Amino acid sequence: MFEVQHYNGTREENYEQLINQLNALLEGEDSVTANLANASALLNQFLNEVNWVGFYTMENGELVLGPFQGLPACVKIPNGRGVCGTATGERSTQLVPDVHEFPGHIACDAQSQSEIVVPIIKDDEIFGVLDIDAPIKNRFDEVDQEYLEKFVETLKKHI
Ligand code: SME
Repeated sequence: MFEVQHYNGTREENYEQLINQLNALLEGEDSVTANLANASALLNQFLNEVNWVGFYTMENGELVLGPFQGLPACVKIPNGRGVCGTATGERSTQLVPDVHEFPGHIACDAQSQSEIVVPIIKDDEIFGVLDIDAPIKNRFDEVDQEYLEKFVETLKKHI
């Protein structure tokens, strides 16, 4: 059974604790769908002030909705489109303080105000993205980026 933990440290310590939890949660499990689903649930109970946390995976050259927590979302995102398609096209994390200022942002939930998208690149191939939306502007900063990229590095060992 999953034990809810308290995160009482610094932001960095809390993220380290989260990544240890991720490793323990996914250890020995090789179902990609199950691991993405549990990773999104783990992140959702860790992060405050977010309204959508989940994955899109690359299928036949476009991003397709994967396991997530939040409202139902757009199913397919063409390469290069939106924040997600920009992250895969540029192979870099997109830290978006205000989604309304991001050209081509795709609105799935009208509540979303800021967003971070981390590309997941495995063996030099784009596997997909981790996408997180927040209902407030400027929700994510460089500390979130650093540790969400580490979170993805850990997740990659289990997908
Ligand atoms: N906002 C994303 C689309 C996915 S939703 O946020 C869940 C984008 O512009 O790619």
